[in-house]
Amino acid sequence: KRIAVMASGSGSNFESIVNTSKAKNSSYEVALLFSDQPAAYALERAKQLGVESVTFLPKNYPDKMAYEADLLALLIRYRIDFIALAGYMRLIGPTLLHRFDGDIVNIHPSLLPQFPGLDAIQQAIDAGVDETGVTIHYIDAGIDTGPIIEQEAVAINPEDSYETVKKKVQRVEHRLYPQTLAKLLRGDETIAKTSVN
Ligand code: GRF
Repeated sequence: KRIAVMASGSGSNFESIVNTSKAKNSSYEVALLFSDQPAAYALERAKQLGVESVTFLPKNYPDKMAYEADLLALLIRYRIDFIALAGYMRLIGPTLLHRFDGDIVNIHPSLLPQFPGLDAIQQAIDAGVDETGVTIHYIDAGIDTGPIIEQEAVAINPEDSYETVKKKVQRVEHRLYPQTLAKLLRGDETIAKTSVN
């Protein structure tokens, strides 16, 4: 399967997804990195990894529909089957949702439905919980509300700081996301769309 990764920031998850795809018999290949932020470090990583990348700014379009229409045309041009969001800081609108129904997933740094939205790691620390984690879920029209595919917990110990929790979360993300994508795109029955929820 040909996947597109969409990222607005650093792209460390993008990089782990690409690295895993280079293994023999990978069920997916990263055919495109798209970023809505021309300054995103993810674009630099794409260059280094030899992955094709495209960026354009939503603010150059009259509205979200027009932006996503261009994005959809791009995805079709690259014959993309599946989209992995990795730090893409925008809601997916009806144009993309309709065309890629059930074929867009996201990674979020909390155990959803706890701590959706921005700064999920800080939210968990502020709430004083002793664990948070990572969730991979399908995209729907809400903010971090789609059906959950995989979750893994990360402990928050009294001696942890924001930075140490973030490191632990990232370590889990960089293993869990590529692994889950590989399974999903292989059509693994245990996490097939229909069995979720
Ligand atoms: C990750 O923590 C991911 O869970 C969240 O955004 C962050 C992206 O990090 N959605 P990176 O750009 O992959 O380094």
